Amino acid sequence: MNPIPYGRQHITDEDIDAVANVLRGPFLTQGPHIAAFESAFAAYIGCQYAVAVANGTAALHLACLALGVTEGTRVITTPITFSASANCVRYCGGEVYFADIDPTTAVLDINAVRTLLEQHPKGYFSGIIPVDFAGYPVDLAAFRELADEYGLWILEDACHAPGGSFTDTEGTVHRCGDGSLAELAIFSFHPVKHIAAGEGGMITTNDETLYKHLLRLRTHGITNKPDELVEPYPGEPERGGWYMQLQELGYNYRLTDMQAALGMSQLNRADDMMARRQEIAKRYDEAFAGTIITTIAPPANSTHAYHLYVIQVDDRKGLYDFLRTKQIMAQVHYIPVHLMPYYRQFGWKPGDFPKSEHYYARCLSLPMFPTLTDAEQQYVISCVNEFIGL
Ligand SMILES: Cc1ncc(COP(=O)(O)O)c(C=O)c1O
Repeated sequence: MNPIPYGRQHITDEDIDAVANVLRGPFLTQGPHIAAFESAFAAYIGCQYAVAVANGTAALHLACLALGVTEGTRVITTPITFSASANCVRYCGGEVYFADIDPTTAVLDINAVRTLLEQHPKGYFSGIIPVDFAGYPVDLAAFRELADEYGLWILEDACHAPGGSFTDTEGTVHRCGDGSLAELAIFSFHPVKHIAAGEGGMITTNDETLYKHLLRLRTHGITNKPDELVEPYPGEPERGGWYMQLQELGYNYRLTDMQAALGMSQLNRADDMMARRQEIAKRYDEAFAGTIITTIAPPANSTHAYHLYVIQVDDRKGLYDFLRTKQIMAQVHYIPVHLMPYYRQFGWKPGDFPKSEHYYARCLSLPMFPTLTDAEQQYVISCVNEFIGL
């Protein structure tokens, strides 16, 4: 039997044709597929603006720059995430602070964030980066209220949650990354994610000023838009069609047209792929109910996007090793970021975030991807059951 990974892209003939058509056309990059993908993605997420970039990490970096993170800016995030959610603050010279997770959801605990905020004067922190970890939609309405009280911005790391949503106490549905409650949100199109583009990322927002700034930052900090141009010096020669200005230090974080066409083709199937993820999750939920395996239920009236299906078990290492012998490539998400050697230099240490550390000691992501067959999933379930003695 072929190994079963924890996540895998699904590429169809339509996807291949979409990329091949770009290769036959005039633009490999900076062509029309970028804007088409951006507006289709914005419509899918339910926000006004979307900026396509090279990957999710570039999206986080540009988002932090646009939000004004600079030397000494203090930002709060969760230890249970991919390290890029924290690194983006460091790229800009900012300081990363962590707050513990809520063990019932595995996402940033708003009470832990509130406690941290209360320990410092107002103005000490500038922003929060909540992560819709595994696809579990963070209650951003509650975070918005807290952020407003302390004058903070919110950057939602929605890499795991395109298509996810939560319902606030007034019954309003907020899709992850829709810009209704966070200044900015970001997504990744890495092959294990919901929408694969090889590499790729997106920043979403409803804020026009941030949007325009992000467009400049994505391309070196250059603009040629007449309403953005400044007077650089007296006696400048007459401007022509070539004219552009480098207005600040930006990057080349562009997505290519091949990637945008693949992303667009995948986006057309996003609802079907999400429905399949939900089906797989339901089957796992049913299989592990009443066993020693702990799972995390989605919040009421919400859509868990199920990038990952995480179980928790005391002998995690034993189960991981056992599943490998069965060709099942379960994975661990995540080693807490504050315990990474790089972050230890800032004084973070074991015991700082006990709930995150306890979670890490027990978590394991089982195979979860739309093309996982029923037979493969049944095999995974029986191997897990065999290990726990069922
Ligand atoms: C939560 C989270 N944030 C950010 C990223 C970074 O995305 P990328 O790999 O596209 O740079 C990832 C990707 O693994 C992620 O899982």
